[in-house]
Order: sequence, then C-alpha cells, then structure tokens
Amino acid sequence: MGKFTKGQIEYFLLKLHSLTGLVPIGAFLILHLSLNALRTVGVLPYQLSIDALNNLPFLIWIEVSVIYIPLLFHSIMGFYVFTIAKSNVFKYSYPRNWMYTLQRVTGGVVFVFLVYHVGTTVAPKLWFGHHLFDAAPFLIDVMNDTFTTWTGRTIYLIGILSATFHFANGLWGFCISWGIVIGPQAQRNAGYAFMLFGLVLSVMGIATVVEFSLHPVSVQPTFGGTS
Ligand code: HEM
Repeated sequence: MGKFTKGQIEYFLLKLHSLTGLVPIGAFLILHLSLNALRTVGVLPYQLSIDALNNLPFLIWIEVSVIYIPLLFHSIMGFYVFTIAKSNVFKYSYPRNWMYTLQRVTGGVVFVFLVYHVGTTVAPKLWFGHHLFDAAPFLIDVMNDTFTTWTGRTIYLIGILSATFHFANGLWGFCISWGIVIGPQAQRNAGYAFMLFGLVLSVMGIATVVEFSLHPVSVQPTFGGTS
C-alpha cells in the first residue's frame, strides 16, 4: 500500500470533522439539552438525571473519549476550515452564503461558550471533589447562581442558540456533502426540516434557562452524600 497524499489525508480529516459533528457531538447535544430540560418538569427529575450520570462507572474515561477528544478534534478542524473558508457574504447576500458564514461564526462562539461552561461546572466539580450524589447539589447551585444575573442568562442564551444553529445547519450541510439529500427541491425541504429541528432544541434550552431563572431551588444529596 502506497503512502497517502496530502490531499487524501486532508479529505479524510475533513470527512471525520463532519462526521464527529453528528456523532458523538450532535448526539451529546440532543441528550444534554433534553436532560437539562428535565428541570422544567421539576428539580427532582433533574437531580436524578445528574445523579445517574455522576454514578456511572469510569465516568471520566467515558467523558474524555466520547465528549472531550471528539470535541477537541472537531474544534481544531473547525478552526482549520475557518482559515481556508472564503466568505462571499458581502459580495452576494444569498441565504446560503449567510448560513455558510454563520456556521463558522457560531462554531467560534460555541467554542468560547464551552470553555466558560465546562470551566464553571465540570472543572470546579472535579476540583472540589463533588462526586457521586454530591455532584447534583453542587451543580444545581452553580446553575441557580448563574441564572440570577442577566449576564449569566445572556451568555447561556447566546451559547444555546449558537450551538443549536451550528448543529442544525451543520446537519443540513452533512446531508448534502455526504450525498444523502440530492437535488435543489429536496435540499430546500431538508433545510426547512432541520430549521424546525433546531427550533425545537432551542425552545428546550430557552425553557430550561427560564425555569432556572424563575425558580432557583437548592437540593440535598439524594442519598446522604458520598458515604
Ligand atoms: C440550559 C442550558 C444548559 C445547562 C443548564 C447545562 C448544564 C450543564 C451541567 C450541569 C453540566 C455538568 C454535568 C456534570 O458534570 O454532571 C454540563 C456539562 C457540559 N455541558 Fe452543558 N448545559 C447547558 C447547555 C449546554 C450547551 C448549549 C452545550 C454545548 C454547546 C453544553 C455542553 C456541555 C459539555 C460539553 C459539558 C461537559 C460534559 C461532561 O463532562 O459530562 N451545555 N452542562
């Protein structure tokens, strides 16, 4: 087997970049926004979902391999795509050109949001050793505090809307570039379907922010702490 050319390696990495946006990252986003939306049902279902996650065996390894490594790869490749991208938005303002530019801008916004988000939730949780059933009371207090201020609410709304747009529009691009949706009419219809999908995810995220903001409720560990 001969050596791969630079072009072949670049093609493979770009395809992997596109695929990781769908799985595992996109799948994680759907699950994450859905589980957080449990807060709108009540604080107990939300607490139990955090308990379940934080009692998983090998949690840190699952997170590193399923979330952080794919996210890091997707971000690095995203910045590479950003540098080679040629935006025509100021020359021709076709909706597709705007979507193309917005896709790249929201990617950057989500990256910054994630550094803030993980830095204020998972990082202090690990740093202060809130494991197992101690994680939920700590994380719920962090979220309650965040959503007492308009700065916190605005950061989250921008993060959520950027992530849902980036994912929904990315899915549309994925279906086209992988040859799943072919033809102008089908591509237009798929565009509407993914727009609706993005809207549903956004509503779930916004409802969560509203619920936290209106009803900040602290909780005790479900089963008496880590004992
Ligand atoms: C209302 C909106 C959101 C809330 C309330 C929320 C809440 C949380 C909480 C509590 C954690 C810590 C989980 C734990 O350690 O058990 C977390 C982690 C995380 N969140 Fe969010 N999140 C929201 C939106 C988002 C968005 C929009 C994204 C993606 C852009 C995102 C990506 C992540 C990631 C990657 C982690 C780390 C996952 C892990 O290590 O398990 N979150 N979030």
